[in-house]
Amino acid sequence: MGRKKISIIGGGQIGGVLAQLIALRQLGDVVLFDIVEDMPQGKTLDIVEASRIDGFDVSLKGTNDYKDINGSDIVIVTAGLPRKPGMSRDDLLTTNAKIMQTVAENVKKHAANSIAIIISNPLDAMVTLFKKITGFPAGKVIGQAGVLDSSRFATFIAWELGVSVKDVNAMVLGGHGDTMVPIVRYANVNGIPAMELLEKKYKDKEKASEVMNAMVERTKMAGGEVVKLLKTGSAFYSPASASIAMVEAIVYDEKRMLPVCAYLNGEFGVKGYYVGVPAVLGAAGVEKIIEFDLIAEEKALLDNSVTAVKGLVVDMERLGF
Ligand code: APR
Repeated sequence: MGRKKISIIGGGQIGGVLAQLIALRQLGDVVLFDIVEDMPQGKTLDIVEASRIDGFDVSLKGTNDYKDINGSDIVIVTAGLPRKPGMSRDDLLTTNAKIMQTVAENVKKHAANSIAIIISNPLDAMVTLFKKITGFPAGKVIGQAGVLDSSRFATFIAWELGVSVKDVNAMVLGGHGDTMVPIVRYANVNGIPAMELLEKKYKDKEKASEVMNAMVERTKMAGGEVVKLLKTGSAFYSPASASIAMVEAIVYDEKRMLPVCAYLNGEFGVKGYYVGVPAVLGAAGVEKIIEFDLIAEEKALLDNSVTAVKGLVVDMERLGF
């Protein structure tokens, strides 16, 4: 068994960090594709010239030719415009759907047996379009949203409670937009409910709820918060890291249960749409969707998020995609 071949479509901010992280962790040989001439070649050359220092010997190739992704095991798609301040992810729909169309056609042609991880926004629509054009099996087309949104939520909880983020578990489900659903009830620090710890801290249930609600709201708007500060683009370190967790789960067949944007076939009462849910990720991609009982309030929030995802998909179809 040789090394895995991991191709990245879109060698911009996220693509560049992805290439470096894959190299540092020696997850596989990297192909970095972009339509901008010379840029991916420059980035991979820059990364590989640190290989003696960092001690990796995977190969990295930058390219403008789709033929180079031939036979990829994993394809990560970051192609598409990022947000500018004041934009929602959904504002990117028309531009990025056009880009996704050509990307999906080429991945289908050159890497028909790959597992695809989609990062481009608006995420839920882009995954749907990629799956539709490639016709890949549902488990082999996965969107990255929940791993990052959950990490953001966990980060805020760790700061608030003054504990290491390594001990915080928090999960965000639903679409990758403002309607996403942080699951407060199961947020915990090494098994102890975060709400209980907040109530102990503030000795006041109402205040604890207020603080939690503020963290939930910040999580939902966290991407926009970064956009506002960066001014010229959107988050790229954390989306790359989140996707690497998914790549690792696949490469090492870890069977990790991660919140990912997965195709639902009746689970959580949703059929035929991509929605963020807990799923087991292993060598075959999404190997299983993990259903659990939601309380009425969570169910209502998830339904609302699913409605937003459906609306986005309808908008995309109206645009002719
Ligand atoms: N094929 C391949 N690459 C393309 C295409 C295309 N048709 N069109 C554009 N690209 C490339 C751009 O040349 C650019 O290098 O996609 C890259 C996108 O990189 P950035 O603009 O730096 O954006 P980034 O921050 O990496 O975000 C990429 O991920 O999180 C989402 O909202 C974000 O949709 C955006 C995507």
